[in-house]
Amino acid sequence: MSSQDIPEENLPAEQDTAHGAVTVADEQSPFADPGLPPHEHRIQDIDERAARRSERTVAMLFTLSMLATIGFIASYVAIPKEESIYVFPIGHISALNFALGLTLGVALFLIGAGAVHWARTLMSDVEIADERHPIEAPPEVKAKVLADFKLGAQESQLGRRKLIRNTMLGALALVPLSGVMLLRDLGPLPGTSLRHTLWSKGKLLVNMNTNQPLRPADVAVGSLTFAKPEGLEETDEDFQVQIAKAALMIVRLQPDNIKDKRELEWSHQGIVAFSKICTHVGCPISLYEQQTHHVLCPCHQSTFDLSDGARVIFGPAGHALPQLRIGVNADGYLEALGDFEEPVGPAFWERG
Ligand code: FES
Repeated sequence: MSSQDIPEENLPAEQDTAHGAVTVADEQSPFADPGLPPHEHRIQDIDERAARRSERTVAMLFTLSMLATIGFIASYVAIPKEESIYVFPIGHISALNFALGLTLGVALFLIGAGAVHWARTLMSDVEIADERHPIEAPPEVKAKVLADFKLGAQESQLGRRKLIRNTMLGALALVPLSGVMLLRDLGPLPGTSLRHTLWSKGKLLVNMNTNQPLRPADVAVGSLTFAKPEGLEETDEDFQVQIAKAALMIVRLQPDNIKDKRELEWSHQGIVAFSKICTHVGCPISLYEQQTHHVLCPCHQSTFDLSDGARVIFGPAGHALPQLRIGVNADGYLEALGDFEEPVGPAFWERG
């Protein structure tokens, strides 16, 4: 149906500003302004039943958005993290991630689609030609902007179309719940777990390269060996979390070269075990200088003296590397005699 088929009395009143004034070329304005083409009225402007159909469509889109948000929350609660599904052409992916992405995407899309359909079919359809003007905002312009805003609010029929308003508010109120649900992933709080590692009395020191328990004879003077606690395997789900706290550097020094009394007591025949995790911001330390017994962190060059309680002698690290007290068990293997006595890693901990 076009505006030509509609009785004149049904057509909405034209506004003066709808079609810009046509100008003809003259000496001062050599280009003629053709003005705007004739305005075509939308079916919703002249047929109340069509307007109500559009209203129901918009309400349905907002309602579906609400259902998709509820689906997001239900997926988060009901789908196990480890479940996977096959999605062509991506392949096997996490069922939970797929469901969360799909439902949140649909919820946001439907809010957008509802808003666009509302604007295109029900909001004011007046075409306006506005002349260019200087970029200034004198008080009268500000007053006009405010008046236009109020007029826009009035023309959007927010007050009149209560069904749209209520469903839109419902959809907008529910969508942020998706973000609130994800806050659960920030928990649970770590409690004291960051202050403890897998080391405990009797745990064997296992060579990280060979995966074999270490004997004192395996640690040569001048060598640097990396060790992990017995029972921790790379295939374990929390391997990265645990090794980030428990990784050890094992070095054998001449007992006479050990200056720190506690370090000597906690060593075995000159073999000392220190945390491999830098106390600056947690990089793994791996550079050992056997002549000076210094270890260097490759990230910001913090340097620790392993012959003097692994104290910091250079760089930004704020604390010595924590030492693990070790001994030898009845079978001749190196073992821990307890956990670290200080938290390992970055020095932002309150070490009271
Ligand atoms: S992390 Fe080691 S010096 Fe910065």
